[in-house]
Amino acid sequence: MSKDTRTPADAPVFSVEGLWKVFGPKAERVPTDPEFASLSPAELRERTGCTAAVRDVGFDVRKGEVFVVMGLSGSGKSTLVRCLTRLIEPTAGTIAIDGEDVRAMDKARLRELRRHRAAMVFQHFGLLPHRTVLDNVAYGLEIQGVGRAERRERAAAFVAKVGLEGMEQRRPAQLSGGQRQRVGLARALAVDPEVLLFDEPFSALDPLIRRDMQEEVVRLHREEGRTMVFVTHDLSEALKLGDRIALMRDGRVVQLGTPEGIVGSPADDYVREFVRDVPREQVMTVRTAMRAATAEEAADGPALPPDATVSEAIEAVARTGSPARVMDGGRCLGVVDHDRLLRVVAGTGHRPEPGEKAA
Ligand SMILES: Nc1ncnc2c1ncn2[C@@H]1O[C@H](COP(=O)(O)OP(=O)(O)O)[C@@H](O)[C@H]1O
Ligand SMILES: [Mg+2]
Repeated sequence: MSKDTRTPADAPVFSVEGLWKVFGPKAERVPTDPEFASLSPAELRERTGCTAAVRDVGFDVRKGEVFVVMGLSGSGKSTLVRCLTRLIEPTAGTIAIDGEDVRAMDKARLRELRRHRAAMVFQHFGLLPHRTVLDNVAYGLEIQGVGRAERRERAAAFVAKVGLEGMEQRRPAQLSGGQRQRVGLARALAVDPEVLLFDEPFSALDPLIRRDMQEEVVRLHREEGRTMVFVTHDLSEALKLGDRIALMRDGRVVQLGTPEGIVGSPADDYVREFVRDVPREQVMTVRTAMRAATAEEAADGPALPPDATVSEAIEAVARTGSPARVMDGGRCLGVVDHDRLLRVVAGTGHRPEPGEKAA
C-alpha cells in the first residue's frame, strides 16, 4: 500500500527509513560514502576507526503490535531502539512517530516524547530504594506533574494490574527479582505511553520468573493492545512475544517477518542456522501447512482455526484419526493430514500439490 492511501487505522506508530548510527571519528561520512557503507564491520573499523552499530535500517511499527528486535549481543539492538527517541542521536536517516519527524524535535518536544509517547523500560528498572512500591509506580506520574491524590490512585490500579496487590507499602529491597520487575513494568504502564520500549528487561531473571514475566507481557498486551517494541537476544522469547520480528546482524536487519515467516522461510543461511533448533510445530500454523480438501474431507473431521499451531493439529489428528479441517467462519479452507503435519515437523516444508494454488 502506498503512503498516501494509508488510512489512519493502519498508519504506523514509528516509521524508520535509512537509519544509521555510526560511532567514532567523523562518523557522518560513513553513511554517505558508498565505499565505506559496503565494508564489513571489521574493515570499516580498521579503515576509519568507526563502528557502524546500525546500518541502513528501515521498518514500520504498526499500531497495537509487539515488534521484536532480535539479534546476538553486539548486533545493534540497543542502539537502534535508543535512536527511536534520540536517547542516542542517529547519524543519518529518518524517524517519525505518528507522522511527526523525531529528528526535528526540540528539547521540550523530545522530553514530552520520552515521557508521554514512547516510554523506555530498561533492563535494570532503576527503582528508587527508599520509596515504597506505590511511590515508585507513582514516580513517573510525579514527573508528569500529576497531583498526589490522583497519582496514588492511578499507581494503585497498576500495582494491582501487575499482581502486586497488598505490597504497596514495601520497599524494593523487600521484593524478589521478579516482583521488582513487575514494579518497573507498572511504573512504565502508569504513565500510559502510546508505545512501550523494552530493552532486554528480563535477561537477568532466572528462567521461571522470566517465563512469568513473558506471560505477563502477553497478557497485558492482550488486555490493552498497547504498541510495544521489545528487544531481546533470546529467540524463544522473540517467537513467543513478537507479532513481527526484525532479526539483526552486524547492524543490519537481515529479515523482518512474523515468527512463522522467519522460522518457515528463513531469508538466508544465517537466519536458517539461527532458527535451526526451533520446534517448528509450535510456530508454524495450519494455514501454511494445509492442502486443498476433497468434498468428503471438507464435510467432516475435527475443526481448527487458521492460526492454530501444527502441534495443536497433531493432537487433533491423533485423537480422531482423521484429517483436521481448517475452518474460517464456517468455511473450510483446507485440511491437514498426517503427511502434511509430519512434513512440517521434519522441516521439509510446504510443497504445493499438483493443481494446488500457491499461497
Ligand atoms: N557508545 C558507543 N561507542 C562506540 N561503540 C558503541 C557504543 N555503543 C555501542 N557500540 C557498539 O555498537 C555495536 C552495537 O551495540 P549494541 O547496540 O549495544 O548491541 P546489542 O544491544 O545488540 O548488544 C557494538 O559493536 C558496540 O560495541
Ligand atoms: Mg543491548
